[in-house]
Amino acid sequence: MTTTNCPVDESFDPLSPEFLADPFAVMAAAQPPVFFAPSIGYYVVTRYQDIEEVFRDPATYSAAAAQAPLAPLAPEAQQILLAGGHRPQPSMASLDEPAHARLRKPAARAFSMKRVTAMIPTIEATATRLLDAIDGAPEFDLVAALAFPLPANIVFSLMGVPERDFGQLKQWCGYRAALSWGRPAPEDQVEIATSMAAYRRYMRALVDLKVATPGDDLASDLIAIHDEAPDRLTLDEIASILFSLSFAGHETTTGLISNTVRRLLEDPGRWDEIAGQPDLIPRAVEESLRYDPSVAVWRRVTTRPVTLAGVHLPEAAKLYLWLAAAGRDKAAFAEPDRFDLHRPDAERHLAFGKGQHFCLGANFGKLEAQIALAELALRYPRLRLAPDQEFTFHPNISFRGPQVLKVRPR
Ligand code: HEM
Repeated sequence: MTTTNCPVDESFDPLSPEFLADPFAVMAAAQPPVFFAPSIGYYVVTRYQDIEEVFRDPATYSAAAAQAPLAPLAPEAQQILLAGGHRPQPSMASLDEPAHARLRKPAARAFSMKRVTAMIPTIEATATRLLDAIDGAPEFDLVAALAFPLPANIVFSLMGVPERDFGQLKQWCGYRAALSWGRPAPEDQVEIATSMAAYRRYMRALVDLKVATPGDDLASDLIAIHDEAPDRLTLDEIASILFSLSFAGHETTTGLISNTVRRLLEDPGRWDEIAGQPDLIPRAVEESLRYDPSVAVWRRVTTRPVTLAGVHLPEAAKLYLWLAAAGRDKAAFAEPDRFDLHRPDAERHLAFGKGQHFCLGANFGKLEAQIALAELALRYPRLRLAPDQEFTFHPNISFRGPQVLKVRPR
């Protein structure tokens, strides 16, 4: 692949331990607007304005790379995936028009504001139940107690997954992150691929189950849309939508909750402020999405040669859109390295993407995070980080949040 006039950074490796521990330290070193990273074979785009330009031009920048395995897979693993129906362009986020709209339109219809609003009492009751379970503990892991189980339980029940299968689905989602956004060892790829095929089959069987016994859930809403015009939305396509939602509606929100709590507790004054003034919580969530987004990177691939930020990109150039860097761009935000609960324009962040693929669950994810924070602040107005902890992160390029976040109610 030609890199023409593009700077090359041999040292940039977003899966290295140093990068995973602190990408912001790497970011702070002067970054050109666009550079090529041989470690992953991607062009890294760092500026807000350029990333926005990419999102706004889907004809030039295809979504096909959005979920492709970052590292090439072993032939045996590829074979298992293909046989299991996990094709290279498997779901909504990585389809271009018109195939994308075929899935997005019915999904958006079923994922209506009405259905999201109707979930509020369930989200509140689930958060209460989860926090009741650790009541009285002098210290607890916020991720295990709340940030992980809350979004998982909510999105699975919204979809209509029976509760007994939640644990299995959570495990498959972890494998999916490793497959598409990580660098799994060849010996692990076969197991991961086998799980992905099982995950696909599960979603297809869930659709059959809901055809036979519809419920008050999103899967049944999609089947009702299929019944109106079977050609417009097939049962296989419904399974694909559920596959998208089960993953997208889960780790992303876990990261959003834990990143927000971490950033608030880093300066206890921030926590005390939101505990005293809970109407600041929506702002805290937006600021966290700008300052430390739970989806740090998204991907595109060029459909033709094009110039971006003065750099000539060939056709089929794979782009690493560094959303976390866009949030720290001085040209886009004043004093971007400062976490500011009162920032007037934090919601201009690109943490949910932009344009045709703009995150379908943005309002839903934010709502869950707001409810989680409100419950926490009400119960624990003096919450603090447990001292001396080093945060660890799942080794993938996109989904980011501490794996463990120990806190003390005081
Ligand atoms: C709360 C944190 C979340 C973040 C930071 C996030 C981020 C993103 C990003 C960056 C994209 C790609 C956008 C683009 O290509 O322009 C996306 C797409 C998507 N998200 Fe989210 N997301 C979150 C939560 C959710 C939730 C809760 C759901 C559903 C329950 C969801 C469902 C989706 C779907 C289905 C897409 C693909 C949309 C399409 O291709 O048309 N997300 N999200």
